[in-house]
Amino acid sequence: MYFKQILNEDCGCSSYIVASRSSRECAIVDSALEIQPYLEVMQDRGLTLRFIVDTHLHADHVSGARRLSGETGVPVSMHESADVLFPFQKLRDRQKLELGPVVLEVLHTPGHRPESISLLVTNPPRSPLPSMVLTGDCLFVGDVGRPDFGGPDAAAQQYDSNQRLLSLEDYVEVFPAHFEGSCGRGMCGRPSSTIGFERRFNPMLQLQKKEDFVRELVSSRPARPLNMDAIIATNRGEAPMSWAMLRHPLPHVQDVTIEQARPKIANGEWWVLDVREDEEWERVHIPDAHHIPQSELATRISEIPRSCVPLVVCHSGMRSHRAAQFLKQADFPGALSLAGGTAGWETAGLPVVSGDKSQTGIRLTEIVGPH
Ligand SMILES: [Fe+2]
Repeated sequence: MYFKQILNEDCGCSSYIVASRSSRECAIVDSALEIQPYLEVMQDRGLTLRFIVDTHLHADHVSGARRLSGETGVPVSMHESADVLFPFQKLRDRQKLELGPVVLEVLHTPGHRPESISLLVTNPPRSPLPSMVLTGDCLFVGDVGRPDFGGPDAAAQQYDSNQRLLSLEDYVEVFPAHFEGSCGRGMCGRPSSTIGFERRFNPMLQLQKKEDFVRELVSSRPARPLNMDAIIATNRGEAPMSWAMLRHPLPHVQDVTIEQARPKIANGEWWVLDVREDEEWERVHIPDAHHIPQSELATRISEIPRSCVPLVVCHSGMRSHRAAQFLKQADFPGALSLAGGTAGWETAGLPVVSGDKSQTGIRLTEIVGPH
């Protein structure tokens, strides 16, 4: 067989080309929007595309599946429960996708999303048993998928789906759809692992009781991804908004200090835009700031005055930097990011608007790569 993992540094996504070297048929799984690399591999190796699979509806990047489909005439395949507005090939649990002798078996592994699937890969000329599993956003290296995009029972489903994957042999290699990014809380950064290693060392998989797993999984969540609303609308076939994705080369954004920012805010030169989540905003925010959560930035961009210099603010300065890069790309050439964010502003003892600090809502996790 032929197997290639393609890592996308912009969104921390992994996509895959799986092929049979005897039949020269291939599948592309979780295609990035930039499809040229897949087309080049297919051309160089004389491969024929048989399947375009998305393991789920992605919330953090625009899928290249439909672009690839448009280019090749091969339909997009997703789990039959996928709520999308374009025609697609409906996959069922246990369905086998054949590439010559190589078999991709569909495992419905809901949780992160209701339609999430994993693909179990068997290459019979080497072994009658599966050797690899593409886990989508169900199982990551050192983590599992966030459940808050998956519906009311998602955390419990995530437990069941992970248990299903844990029934595989220890030697089965794990290839997730992410090596970093906001679909989990603390991925390791390694692009692959094995079932056996994750069984022993994945912190979430140490929680053997379902109630413990669920409690831990819902105890905190990362912020929703930058431009999530626009990305989901695009991936569902509802609205073409692929301009909501950050593009290379990423624009340079200046991180300004609180000392630089204060006089500019005071005299109205800089328009403070807070891109944190609602609960963060309600707890505390900078006076006179405007609030658009980063997940809604592209869909609500018309609310930002065209002539202004947006000073983007988040908790610590990480999310705001990327949001400011997006604004630069979207014709706000002056966009800036506040270093240290709202936390730094508060620590400096500057005035803030405070709300209810005692609320016991879900804790938000900053993704900093803890491993
Ligand atoms: Fe995801």
